[in-house]
Amino acid sequence: MRIICVDDYDEMSKKAANIVASQIILKPDSILGLATGATPLGMYKYLVKTYKDGHIDFEQVKTFNLDEYYGLDKENKQSYYYYMHENFFKFINISKESVNIPNGMAKDIYQESLEYERKIRQCGGIDLQVLGIGRNGHIGFNEPDIKFEALTHMVNLDEQTINDNSRFFDSMEDVPTKAISMGIKTIMHARKILLLASGKEKADAIYGAIYGKITPKLPASVLQLHPDVMFIVDKEAASKL
Ligand code: GLP
Repeated sequence: MRIICVDDYDEMSKKAANIVASQIILKPDSILGLATGATPLGMYKYLVKTYKDGHIDFEQVKTFNLDEYYGLDKENKQSYYYYMHENFFKFINISKESVNIPNGMAKDIYQESLEYERKIRQCGGIDLQVLGIGRNGHIGFNEPDIKFEALTHMVNLDEQTINDNSRFFDSMEDVPTKAISMGIKTIMHARKILLLASGKEKADAIYGAIYGKITPKLPASVLQLHPDVMFIVDKEAASKL
């Protein structure tokens, strides 16, 4: 596990974008696992800049997003589909067919999950998985007490996660209580993992993920077992290390 401590959010974002960019330069047909939330927004901004400056090309890249809210359609401004298109995909030359995001409106979530896993396998697996982290140590939407062996599946969101995510919704009633998420096993199968964290509210989760007991109570702690994982954390997120 490599831990890179940087000054602030901007430096974290730049470093993360450089790592993703070098992945694409070294392997133009990379399979990227992508994350949402506030944390990776700066990274996407720098990746778009790197693309516009002509340093990277997304023509052969394929992407798989970690998760999606259950019951939100693609047009819903809070859906992760909308987020990815508005913040990243519409600015780069990635083809529609190369973008994969779990369908939160699927009638049969079980089938949707199996199909998502099949597609990842068919592409040869994820080369680089980008992760954020929840205050409770969740990754993707794998909440505390999740089974480490789970693949993509439907999850019930934790009260803390629902509260944390309510800042993006008009009212508390609008916040979904379920989501479809890659499982811990899906994430652990990625060849490389890059976890980003910024802000003091992430400090406990970061401490637990790096030095805590490996336990489903803090899902990110499982990353201690991954052979190629890098954390980029700003000073505040690293304050308890
Ligand atoms: C959501 C997402 C996670 C993300 C987490 C932290 O629950 N499903 O992938 O890492 O929020 O979000 P933020 O980066 O906004 O703190």
